[in-house]
Amino acid sequence: MCGIFAYLNYNVNRERRYILQVLFNGLRRLEYRGYDSAGIAIDSSSVSVCAELGSSPVLDSPTRSQPICADPNSFSNSRLTPPPLVFRQEGNIESLVKSVYQEVAEVELNLEESFSIHAGIAHTRWATHGEPAPRNSHPQTSGLGDDFLVVHNGVITNYEVLKETLVRHGFIFESETDTEVIPKLAKFVYDKANEATGDQVVTFSHVVLEVMRHLEGAYALIFKSRHYPNELIACKRGSPLLLGVKEMRENQENGSAFEDNTFMSKDGHPKELFLSSDAHAVVEHTKKVLVIEDGEVVHLKDGGVSILKFENDKGEHVGPLSRVASVRRALSILEMEVEQINKGHYEHYMQKEIHEQPESLTTTMRGRLIRRGSSKSKSVLLGGLKDHLKTIRRSRRIVFIGCGTSYNAALAARPILEELSGIPVSMEIASDLLDRQGPIYREDTAVFVSQSGETADTLLALQYALENGALCVGITNTVGSAIARKTHCGIHINAGAEIGVASTKAYTSQIVVMAMLALAIGGDTISNQARREAIVDGLYDLPNKVREVLKLDQEMKDLAQLLIAEQSLLVFGRSYNYATALEGALKVKEVALMHSEGILAGEMKHGPLALVDENLPIVVIATRDACFSKQQSVIQQLHARKGRLIVMCSKGDATSVCPGESCRSIEVPQVEDCLQPVINVVPLQLLAYHLTVLRGFNVDQPRNLAKSTVIK
Ligand code: F6R
Repeated sequence: MCGIFAYLNYNVNRERRYILQVLFNGLRRLEYRGYDSAGIAIDSSSVSVCAELGSSPVLDSPTRSQPICADPNSFSNSRLTPPPLVFRQEGNIESLVKSVYQEVAEVELNLEESFSIHAGIAHTRWATHGEPAPRNSHPQTSGLGDDFLVVHNGVITNYEVLKETLVRHGFIFESETDTEVIPKLAKFVYDKANEATGDQVVTFSHVVLEVMRHLEGAYALIFKSRHYPNELIACKRGSPLLLGVKEMRENQENGSAFEDNTFMSKDGHPKELFLSSDAHAVVEHTKKVLVIEDGEVVHLKDGGVSILKFENDKGEHVGPLSRVASVRRALSILEMEVEQINKGHYEHYMQKEIHEQPESLTTTMRGRLIRRGSSKSKSVLLGGLKDHLKTIRRSRRIVFIGCGTSYNAALAARPILEELSGIPVSMEIASDLLDRQGPIYREDTAVFVSQSGETADTLLALQYALENGALCVGITNTVGSAIARKTHCGIHINAGAEIGVASTKAYTSQIVVMAMLALAIGGDTISNQARREAIVDGLYDLPNKVREVLKLDQEMKDLAQLLIAEQSLLVFGRSYNYATALEGALKVKEVALMHSEGILAGEMKHGPLALVDENLPIVVIATRDACFSKQQSVIQQLHARKGRLIVMCSKGDATSVCPGESCRSIEVPQVEDCLQPVINVVPLQLLAYHLTVLRGFNVDQPRNLAKSTVIK
């Protein structure tokens, strides 16, 4: 996935230096979404017609697609503004920042030049089509003159067909991206429309709506055009996008509703508008936002915002332009604080997110646990499910669907859900369900687990389950995300913004949400009363226990030091902690770039045992639960084969569980068995974190990964 961002100031003077800073900071906030290359486009001059620039400098840079105003006479239309300045750079945001300031200095571009209106767009890329290189970075251009520029998050699946058509019409393609067809299509549409009328009568929104009609796939797009100076257009289908609004009025508190499709009409009030892939890049400027929906086109013009939508849009196709209607929408207020998206005193987001788990778990449970006076009233309250609990209880089965860490969290919660509900629970990795077109029935409850709420495979599986008539429940960390909106009901994880690419606090909060789901579905039957109460009590105490286990930080750092040069690490777990083994191994693999495998201990004799020797380090999770004695026997068998053991056990068990002196132990607090995965994963998260730092890799931006994959 990629991050897109735009900034438009209206009737408020802003210097070029400030505009650049806003764009760069926006990109820094979105960098977790992709960090292969980045780019921006800004207005080249506050003077509206290029000819008026006189002797403006001619820039010829490898990262810029066009010289600035090389030939003022080349503009056929006198209203055409000078080409924007486009900068594109391979590497992360800081490489872009450096190269922009270098170029700006070389050509003596005035950073203090003031703009009362200025429209800038920006992009950070996670490469899908075409290697990371300036030509494949965004903004992508319509060609010579940069008439239309586009930043894109998503993937255009029919780009080859569109490209063939555009090539036939004389367009020359310079990149290997799917995105390049979009600005070129915009230019094609614009030229055709104007040919027909003989003058520029077509509106910017008409051009974009017409372009959208031809695009297939997933996208969030922001368009900038020299033909429509001081305007920006954004639209989306499948990929997330929001608008932030900062009015320079006395009272900025209220998120007042749109009075019409044009809100804050041209009253001359200065304002700043932001478009962004997510709230992280907006919250430091404003909390007033509009979450843009699929099929909507948001037009920023003359200080107003108008929204258009294809009337018949169901997220699949867009219809004829005659079916376009204006939309009234209300601004909402972000429930996010700037501190949440800063690293605070931590060196890395992953480190911060691991250590804030006592707080994130508390927030996840806030207002949801009930423990009034007598023990009978111990239960949970999940508002988002209240109208659907009866249907869920009548389900033929519950199907958990997710990817990666979210799948692992569901796997950790499966046993308690089966136990308390008595309903069979099956597990589906979203992509595998789709590959097999596995059976989903009307009588099923399908639970979609996703931190971002935007993962393409999970979203497609949701679409599939909806088509098959299942009741769909969403468990996501992102309010307003596609999964949150498209499911029938759901539970927000409320773990707070998770920025490190490796999911940590979302994982533990997901498990807790699903344990609460199990309690809610299980209801208050007498037969499981004691168990239910023990779990509720355990949930109350969980943040404290996580605080305790976090004290193993230094111990995990020492262990990481010991393992720093290893090629591989196995993690054995079973029952509740099979998921812990998978998740621990995933963390080590994805950030420390060390091969690691989570193994179901019951399968040990059926293959993995062959790997065991005195060199390969093996973590065995053997905390106290119903499978404890089985794990003891696994430890003995591994020891008999001279296995290099690291045993995770309950506090006080180290001497009895560890065979021989060479065995290392990790002692963790013991909690209710179904909550133990929350505790047990923490030392493995810390181990992965320290291994990564010690091995010198980028913790928050692991090689080749991005936070969530909104593309197929
Ligand atoms: C690993 C990780 C991924 C995600 C997976 C699903 O640390 O974060 O495995 O869990 O890409 O993403 P979401 O949960 O956003 O659907």
